[in-house]
Amino acid sequence: DTGYTVYDTGYKNSASCCSTITYLDGDRGILRYRGYNIEDLASRCLFIEVAYLLLHNKLPNRVELENFRTMLEEHALIHEDMVHFLDKFPPHASPMSILSVMVNSLHNFYPEMSADPLENIDLTASRLISKIRTIAAFSYKKSIGQPLVYPRNDLSYCGNFLNMMFDTPVRPYIVLPEIVAALNKLLILHADHEQNCSTSAVRLVGSSGGNLYSSISAGINALWGPLHGGANEAVIHMLEAIHKDNNNYKKYIAKAKDRRDPFRLSGFGHRVYRTFDPRGTIIKDACDGILTILNFEDPLMDIARNLEEIVLNDPYFVSRNLYPNIDFYSGIIYRALGIPTNMFTVMFALGRLPGWIAQWKEMREDPETKIYRPRQIYIGSPAREFVPLGQRT
Ligand code: SDX
Repeated sequence: DTGYTVYDTGYKNSASCCSTITYLDGDRGILRYRGYNIEDLASRCLFIEVAYLLLHNKLPNRVELENFRTMLEEHALIHEDMVHFLDKFPPHASPMSILSVMVNSLHNFYPEMSADPLENIDLTASRLISKIRTIAAFSYKKSIGQPLVYPRNDLSYCGNFLNMMFDTPVRPYIVLPEIVAALNKLLILHADHEQNCSTSAVRLVGSSGGNLYSSISAGINALWGPLHGGANEAVIHMLEAIHKDNNNYKKYIAKAKDRRDPFRLSGFGHRVYRTFDPRGTIIKDACDGILTILNFEDPLMDIARNLEEIVLNDPYFVSRNLYPNIDFYSGIIYRALGIPTNMFTVMFALGRLPGWIAQWKEMREDPETKIYRPRQIYIGSPAREFVPLGQRT
C-alpha cells in the first residue's frame, strides 16, 4: 500500500546463507562448532585443534596436529619491511587499526598466498593465524616503547603470544601453564559464531573475488565497533566508571534504559541469544580460577557480578531477554593476564580468525555463491522533472 515495489531478494542475493560450520540455538543457549559442543571444545582442546576443526570439519589426529603446529611455527615471523612499516604508526595508534592495515598489507608481502589461497588451506591459514599473533604482539610492544620480542619455536601458540607480549631483556617472562590454558580457552570461545557482523563482512568482501587478506581486514574493521567485538573494551570502561562513581549502579541502570544511547549496557544483549550466552557463562566460571591462581584482586569482578544480578532481576531487561554475552566477563580475564584494555578487541580478532578463514573458504568453495548484493525497499522521492539551476528556489 506504500506504492513501492518490494523486490524478492532471494537468499543468494542477500547476506543470509547456509553453512556447515557453526550451529547456534539462541533460545536454548547452545553453541556447536562442526557439531561439537562449545563446552567440550573449550575444556578439552587447544586453540590450534579447534582452528583445524573449523577449517577441516574434523578434529586433527596427532600427525595432523603436529603438521599444523609446525606450519604455525614456520610462519611466525613477518617480513622485516613490515616491522619498519609498523614503526611509522604514531605511538597512540589503535591496535585494531594497525591490525587491519598490517593484515591487508600481507597481500603485498606474500602475493603468492593470494594466488589461490584454497589450494593449500593449511598453508594459507597457518600463515595468517601465526602472523596475526606476531603483528598483535609487536603492535603492543611498539605502543609501550619496548623492544620487539620475536616468536620462539619452543613455545606453544598461546605461550609464544604471551612471551612476545610480556618478555623483556631485563626480566624474562615466565610462561605459566595456567595462563596458557586460560588463553587457549578464551581464543576457542571466540573462534566462530556463524553469520555475525564481522564474519558477514569477510564473506561479503570475499564474494566479490576480493583476496583473503582484504576480506579478513574488513572483518577486523567490522569487529572493532563497540556494538560488536569492541564491547569487551566498552564493558571495562563502563565497570570502571561505576567503580569511580562509588558503585552508583542506579545511575548506570537508568542510563541503560535510555534508548537514544546505542552503547548502553555493554556486555548485555545479543542478536541471537535470548538466554545466557554459553561462552559468557564459561568465561565467568573461569574468572574465579584465574583470579585466584594469579592472586589478582579485581574490584571490577564484584561490580560485574552485582551489575549482572541487578540486570537479571530488573523487569525492563528481563522483558527484553537481555543476558550477559561473551564480552561481559572476558575483559576481566584479559586484565588478569596483564593484557591492556586497548588490546581486548585484538584478542577477539586473534580468536575469531580461524572462523573467518573457514567461513571465507566455505563461501568461495560454494559453486552457488554469487556476489553479495542485499536489496532495499526504496522509500525516497517518486520520479520528478529536472529543474535547471536558474529556476531552483
Ligand atoms: C558480539 O552476532 C554475534 O554473534 C556477535 C558476537 C560474536 O561472537 O560474533 O556474539 C559478538 O558482538 C556480542 C554483542 C556485544 N555487544 C554488546 O555487548 C553491546 C551492547 N549490546 C547491545 O548493543 C545489543 O544488545 C546488540 C547490539 C548486541 C543487539 O542489539 P539489538 O539486536 O538491537 O537487540 P534486540 O533487538 O535484542 O533489542 C531488544 C530490546 C530493544 O529495546 P526496545 O526497542 O524493544 O525497547 O532490548 C534493547 C533494545 O533497545 N537492548 C538493550 C541492550 N541491548 C538491546 N537495552 C539496553 N542495553 C543493551 N545492551
